Amino acid sequence: MVELEDRVAIVTGAGRGLGREHALFLASHGARVVVNDLGVANDGSGSDCSPSDEVVAEIRAAGGTAVANCDDVATWDGSRAMIAAAIDAFGDVDVLVNNAGILRDSTVVNMNEEDFDEVIRIHLKGHFAPTKWVAVHWRAQYKAGVTRRRNLVHTSSTSGIYANPGQANYGPAKSGVVTFSQIAAKELAHYGVVSNCVVPGARTRLTLSSPGLPEIMEAPPDGFDQWDPANVSPLVAYLAGETCPFNGETFYVQGGTVRRLEPWTLVGDSIEHATRWDLDELDEAMRTFRTRR
Ligand SMILES: NC(=O)c1ccc[n+]([C@@H]2O[C@H](COP(=O)([O-])OP(=O)(O)OC[C@H]3O[C@@H](n4cnc5c(N)ncnc54)[C@H](O)[C@@H]3O)[C@@H](O)[C@H]2O)c1
Repeated sequence: MVELEDRVAIVTGAGRGLGREHALFLASHGARVVVNDLGVANDGSGSDCSPSDEVVAEIRAAGGTAVANCDDVATWDGSRAMIAAAIDAFGDVDVLVNNAGILRDSTVVNMNEEDFDEVIRIHLKGHFAPTKWVAVHWRAQYKAGVTRRRNLVHTSSTSGIYANPGQANYGPAKSGVVTFSQIAAKELAHYGVVSNCVVPGARTRLTLSSPGLPEIMEAPPDGFDQWDPANVSPLVAYLAGETCPFNGETFYVQGGTVRRLEPWTLVGDSIEHATRWDLDELDEAMRTFRTRR
């Protein structure tokens, strides 16, 4: 059984889309939730605290427990303040769901420096900085004798796994999120922390802004809506549970499908030379590799 009652969970970017669903779902299962959202536009511009306030009001109206937080998780001080606010409100943190994100799609040739830097910052630093500050807290708790299970759930994308053209900033950031999750899994296991990653597929304002996706993701008039973002939340809640047996894993999740993704492995064709390769011999030997398309 997945035990979430009274666990303190922070969900970043929880004012809209997937994060909102995660916050509502966790709260409906008894978790005390910190609803973080900077309230930015798709491209990260602006800021507005009302989305996080509205989700908190929804949770409370349903009898749940939540507080709002409007810090920018992709800044050092903002993420530190968010972790401090959670501890202030609820005394501790058990779960951090890193979910906040933006898009600024462009091709390699057309992308400008700011669009590259901002997307890398929001996703990669927006995962690293909150994790860093919650891990500092968890280490202190562990050393003080509090040894219960803590959970990190990170959010990657098929763009980072399968390399979508037009996302030369977002794709590398999302690949980095998976690697970061695995590093956190190895480093923080000592303190009782598990770190796992989800790769969601759902209808949100981010995907609705991507050409071709609104048609595919349209809700059916009746029956199961497989692109509903709420479909992703049970897996996030499972990975946030006290008994979660996984650490360092990545799961694709969409509709009723949960697919475990294989990590990078050393398994593959290889060519060997007893000493440093001569260029012509290497040219010859490299032909034995199958060409990928
Ligand atoms: N929707 C999908 O199918 C899909 C697929 C793959 C990955 N993702 C990832 O899922 C996550 C959620 O995306 P979504 O589709 O729900 O989009 P969304 O735009 O509906 O929600 C993202 C939320 O993050 C908030 N946010 C952005 N930058 C922030 C910051 N610096 N600090 C705090 N909050 C911030 C935004 O204000 C917004 O409310 C993102 O990381 C996205 O890359 C989504």
